[in-house]
Amino acid sequence: MSLLRTDRSWRAEVRGRVPVRYLPQATPAHLRGTWLEARPARIERAVADALARPTHGWLVVAASADVPRGRSVVRRVAGREVVLWRDADGGVLAGPGACPHLGARLHGCDVVDGAVLCRWHGMPLGRDTRPPWATFAAHDDGVLVWARVGVVEDGAEPTQHPVLAARPVADGAIASVVSLAATCEPRDIVANRLDPWHGAWLHPYAFSDLAVDDAASSDDRLVLEVAYRLGRTFAVPVRAEFTCPDSHTVVMTITDGEGVGSVVETHATPLTAPGEHPARTVMTEAVVATSDRAGFRVARRLAPLVRVGMRASQTQLWADDLEYAARRYALRRGLV
Ligand code: FES
Ligand SMILES: [Fe+2]
Repeated sequence: MSLLRTDRSWRAEVRGRVPVRYLPQATPAHLRGTWLEARPARIERAVADALARPTHGWLVVAASADVPRGRSVVRRVAGREVVLWRDADGGVLAGPGACPHLGARLHGCDVVDGAVLCRWHGMPLGRDTRPPWATFAAHDDGVLVWARVGVVEDGAEPTQHPVLAARPVADGAIASVVSLAATCEPRDIVANRLDPWHGAWLHPYAFSDLAVDDAASSDDRLVLEVAYRLGRTFAVPVRAEFTCPDSHTVVMTITDGEGVGSVVETHATPLTAPGEHPARTVMTEAVVATSDRAGFRVARRLAPLVRVGMRASQTQLWADDLEYAARRYALRRGLV
């Protein structure tokens, strides 16, 4: 009996220390179909619930690292050009992307004392410039830059800050951001994320052993068990939940297993104006990973290197997921 208990506690100890499990990958012939669980009506209900959550006009417009000090950057958002730059105190600012003098695109301009100096004739543009050219509200959350340039929904008010999801603290985490565009609307990217059942089928190289916990899930929260694949033989099982802070954002949070508290944020930002077709949308994914393991502290010191690997796997997954989103859009628009 005591031998058995020792054996059990030894196993528990190993399981606690080593997150990797022996989980051989199923072949397609043996992979359990999930199509009966991925009920279209259920996915639509979750999407409708997400779409009802206001953005208050806030959209993700860049990665924080993409907006340097001293130089401006122009992005296209919802059919208009938006210039981003940093104020003298490092805070991010945003404004219309065309110079009010003769319309120069304000990309790549020098920024001096918080003012963008237009490259054509040097007009200074900053937080004190008065309409018709005036700054928009902007916010740097430390990983992503937001601007209040989207539609403020009926019944909602413009707010001082976007709706932000909880993240691990910055100095205990590694963040990696990728942005990719597709022909679809933001709702198609949201819908892709709210169909977790495709995980092991569409991305067998990345996920397996996926099961949605129906008892713990609702239209506004999907809870699931999934294993991150480390090749064909081993995987790291976690429990995760998907929620939508606003209509353009889906957040996956690891709630049990390796990396508890880590998040994967998916933000859908329209490139084209509302109602314009074909619609183009940028998907920005921020992975903010954390772990209390000693190995993770080493990884944090190698963050630039680790980020290369994180971005490669994010890009591979989103190649598949954006094809899914674009297909959904094409079906809805009668293009196929
Ligand atoms: S176009 Fe910008 S200063 Fe002339
Ligand atoms: Fe996916």
